[in-house]
Amino acid sequence: VSTIAVLSGDGIGPEVVQCAVRVLREVRLDVECVEALVGGAALRAGKPPLPDDTRALCDRSAAILFGAVGLPEYDSKPLAERPEKALFSLRHDYELYANIRPVRVFPGLEGSSSLLPSLVQGLDLIVVRELTGGIYFGQPKERRTAADGIEEAVDTMFYRAPEIERIARVAFEFAQQRRRHVTSVDKQNILETSGLWRQVVEQTAQSFPAVSVTHLLVDNAAMQLIRRPAQFDVILTENMFGDILSDEAAMLTGSIGNLPSASLGTRGNGNRRFGMYEPISGTAPDIAGKGIANPTAAILSAALLLRYSLDDEPAARRVEQAVESAFRSGARTADLARGGARALNTTEFTDVVVARLPR
Ligand code: IPM
Ligand code: MG
Repeated sequence: VSTIAVLSGDGIGPEVVQCAVRVLREVRLDVECVEALVGGAALRAGKPPLPDDTRALCDRSAAILFGAVGLPEYDSKPLAERPEKALFSLRHDYELYANIRPVRVFPGLEGSSSLLPSLVQGLDLIVVRELTGGIYFGQPKERRTAADGIEEAVDTMFYRAPEIERIARVAFEFAQQRRRHVTSVDKQNILETSGLWRQVVEQTAQSFPAVSVTHLLVDNAAMQLIRRPAQFDVILTENMFGDILSDEAAMLTGSIGNLPSASLGTRGNGNRRFGMYEPISGTAPDIAGKGIANPTAAILSAALLLRYSLDDEPAARRVEQAVESAFRSGARTADLARGGARALNTTEFTDVVVARLPR
């Protein structure tokens, strides 16, 4: 029996994670899903954003299925007292440095994209985002009052070569299994960290002769993504650039509600790595509690969990095929419904996915 820590958190988190758990239970009878508090849900219960018992559960689990964290009422607090702190602690403490964000346009969804269908048809790329370094974690990082009485703030973008090398390896390994092209994104014309990034990526590329590599500046990459997205296979980039570009890439698929993610680290090996799996969308406060959120990202995150933490490729495929088949049949949640098509709510959409699981 594999234990999965289910941390659904805030906003639409609980609504969509519930669907992912349901699908996971359909394909695997031997997983034990244990829920625990995280983020604003923990804060509201008078606990820290990542309570000790939640961490203990994660310690003894094969993987974490995560929803979203963040509540407007905590927005003005310092980071340590905000729901988001839980996410950063989990990423940092389990060294989940490799964030994998697959971007696929499923057949039938071309018309839901904000780009012309011809530009996104069959789109299939992945963003490999460095997740435990860069400007998110570099020190100093603080708000302060300077000697002259003026308020100031500082964040620090910092990388050490081994941090870049290990994430570059992940990107090249994925590319080897795919269309063998890595686009490394940086801001080398202005940032020192990007100069180092480019150099280490070049060195790492030497070990992967079958994979070609292109370097793009991040502003150009943002433009190319909406100009001709099909040119990308694997996008390799640092923490903040990856955060921004993956939201942009999500819209190519019609909705940010479609994009799953896997955050993998140093614990475990092969396809039995400890990891955290979450929709990239966040809490979506505008629709939270209405039961209309698109559960696709959460369900596809469960598929990634099966693939990378439970070494169960067949089950992962079944889940992905069921989602694909649901879209093909015309099933759409409100974020994807176009031209007056009837929108399914979260549960109804999941019903369609479950019904379409290949036997
Ligand atoms: C993401 C999210 C987080 C991030 C937020 C919630 C802090 O946007 O996972 O993409 O910026 O990493
Ligand atoms: Mg983000």
